[in-house]
Amino acid sequence: MSKIKMIAPSLLSADFGNLQRDIEMLNHSEADWLHVDVMDGRFVPNISFGFPVMKTIKQHSKKFIDVHLMIVEPEKYVEEFIHQGADLVSVHYEACTHLHRTVKQIQDKGAKAGVVLNPSTPVWCLEDIINDVDLVLLMSVNPGFGGQKFIENTYKKVAETKEMILSANATALIQVDGGVNTENAAQLFEAGADVLVAGNAVFASENPQRTIEQMKL
Ligand code: DX5
Ligand code: ZN
Repeated sequence: MSKIKMIAPSLLSADFGNLQRDIEMLNHSEADWLHVDVMDGRFVPNISFGFPVMKTIKQHSKKFIDVHLMIVEPEKYVEEFIHQGADLVSVHYEACTHLHRTVKQIQDKGAKAGVVLNPSTPVWCLEDIINDVDLVLLMSVNPGFGGQKFIENTYKKVAETKEMILSANATALIQVDGGVNTENAAQLFEAGADVLVAGNAVFASENPQRTIEQMKL
């Protein structure tokens, strides 16, 4: 069986003045998911967008909506994001005091639950929750901004996560986010990643649809 290779373009790098146009372009592309980056100016030093934009994204998109919450106290907001159309909600390990409870809260509302690790957080922190999550998101930049440089240590973390999943007989997918491009995508899939997020690489390219295809090669 061939390996799963999914691409989730990040709308953070889209043209917000033409959001509908960019979402429709992605509807007609080989993108698998749509990655929605929510920032609160507290967990990360930047503010992006919230519910009204999420609602608009859902209205126009035909893709699976993957919401990445870079916010403190995500348990206060996950249900509203699911109500607005999130198919998967990822919360940061570093932002959750009661991570297991928040994961169950997301799943009880009918969405998939992901847990995100910052670049400096070791993979072993997930050992006791790996069988409960649907996805592990490994940050390959410090969250907060698009267009940053990929941190090379991520390859090692992808391999470690894959090993943890296999030895626990778990089914979680591995997603990588930050600085992903056509140069490093193949090596990330090879290391064990299932879903790659790409913002700048897709939206700054001359032909975003072709770039998405190239990332799957
Ligand atoms: C970073 C966000 C990423 C970002 C990726 O805080 O979580 O999803 O948009 O953008 P690129 O691919 O440009 O690094
Ligand atoms: Zn993200």
